[in-house]
Amino acid sequence: MAHKKRGLTCSWLSLKLCLLTAAICSGISYFFFMPQTVQTSILATKQLIFNSQINPSRETSLTLEVAGEKKDLKNKGIITTPSLHLTTLSRLKTNNTTPQNEENPKDPLPYTFLIPEEDKCKETTPFLVFLICTTENERLKRDNIRKTWGNESLVPGFSVVRLFMLGVQKHGSTEAIKEESRMYRDIIQQDFQDTYHNLTLKVLMGMKWVASYCPNAQFVMKTDSDMFVNTEYLIQKLLATISTSKLYFTGFPMRKYHPIRNKNSKWYMPLEVYPESFYPDFCSGTGYVFSGRLATMIYQVSFTVKILHLEDVYVGLCLQKIGVKVSSPPRSTLFNPFKVPFKPCVYNKLITSHYVSPNELLIFWELIQKEKHDCFQNFNNTIFSLLFPPS
Ligand SMILES: *[C@@H]1O[C@H](CO)[C@@H](O)[C@H](O)[C@H]1NC(C)=O
Ligand SMILES: *[C@@H]1O[C@H](CO)[C@@H](O)[C@H](O)[C@H]1NC(C)=O
Ligand SMILES: *[C@@H]1O[C@H](CO)[C@@H](O)[C@H](O)[C@H]1NC(C)=O
Ligand SMILES: *[C@@H]1O[C@H](CO)[C@@H](O)[C@H](O)[C@H]1NC(C)=O
Repeated sequence: MAHKKRGLTCSWLSLKLCLLTAAICSGISYFFFMPQTVQTSILATKQLIFNSQINPSRETSLTLEVAGEKKDLKNKGIITTPSLHLTTLSRLKTNNTTPQNEENPKDPLPYTFLIPEEDKCKETTPFLVFLICTTENERLKRDNIRKTWGNESLVPGFSVVRLFMLGVQKHGSTEAIKEESRMYRDIIQQDFQDTYHNLTLKVLMGMKWVASYCPNAQFVMKTDSDMFVNTEYLIQKLLATISTSKLYFTGFPMRKYHPIRNKNSKWYMPLEVYPESFYPDFCSGTGYVFSGRLATMIYQVSFTVKILHLEDVYVGLCLQKIGVKVSSPPRSTLFNPFKVPFKPCVYNKLITSHYVSPNELLIFWELIQKEKHDCFQNFNNTIFSLLFPPS
């Protein structure tokens, strides 16, 4: 009995101990793990929102959680900081009452226009502005673009403005560029070094130009000097069907892409510069088209988005912050960041093809013009020639 009792006392004791330990343990675990659980569940919710939306946007999920506070969010430069979710959480806890002290943010980039070409839109409001990335020594490419898809009077009834965007090679504008600019009035240039890693500055120069000198342009297309662009198809078959009241952005969509961490890659992205594991949705920099109003919005939001050297990713980050989603084009074969094998009737029904040399551009262009009617109007022509036989 005594033994038994002692045994009982013993087990009672251990039971109490157990309970006490359990209580202490759960207390401790509450303190240590609970915030993390809350955090995890918030992150999980974010992940859900992330997954359920086409646009994987932390900013968007934050916008959802603090609905009605979007205006406030606009002024925060919190896109690419590694401690984002902590910032986010503390903002959520304080119900987003951080004072707005960045009333009128100024352009943080110190570059000025050497060639502003500020009068291009004085007379008419263009339907489409081409912003074409090029460098000083690419005169032949510019000339052939002028003769082909960059022709400003190609599509009757739609005014087009063509602009080549340049930085500087050494210091300032060269005489050759000044001369070319006087001749064609289609060059804009700022005083940053014209390097691959400064492409984002070049694109932002274009956005700033539209914002400053052509804010009512209906659409803008950013593209490169080694591209074939089917201007007619772009305008007549795509842009003319887009309502100008909505904010539109399309091209070759790149969704859920990972940053490339391999130092040898052209698209290498250092972890310190962009620590997230996904990029927001963006469109290949080879050619993207968007509502003119977005140029001003992208330019302004860029004041608070840390510069990344990959311009198309950077524009994607700006779009994410503005809250505009990338639209898929009506057909996935319209915008091509690679070279499409040339066939006149294929090129007549696409918008972009890449790696087209200046000579190919001329040849392709000529062949397309010749075959244009055969691609589109076989049937009509047959009927027409039957009805009105050539006399
Ligand atoms: C959070 O802010 C919103 C908008 O200012 C307000 O309506 C709401 O009552 C606030 N919630 C809390 C818990 O303070
Ligand atoms: C541009 O296109 C128009 C209309 O097709 C044509 O008359 C003109 O010659 C072209 N300009 C150039 C520089 O090719
Ligand atoms: C970009 O341009 C600026 C201004 O000219 C220059 O200081 C900087 O070195 C350039 N950056 C790169 C990565 O080329
Ligand atoms: C065929 O002709 C009609 C009437 O002129 C025109 O509306 C239509 O756009 C033409 N179709 C093509 C594919 O050119």
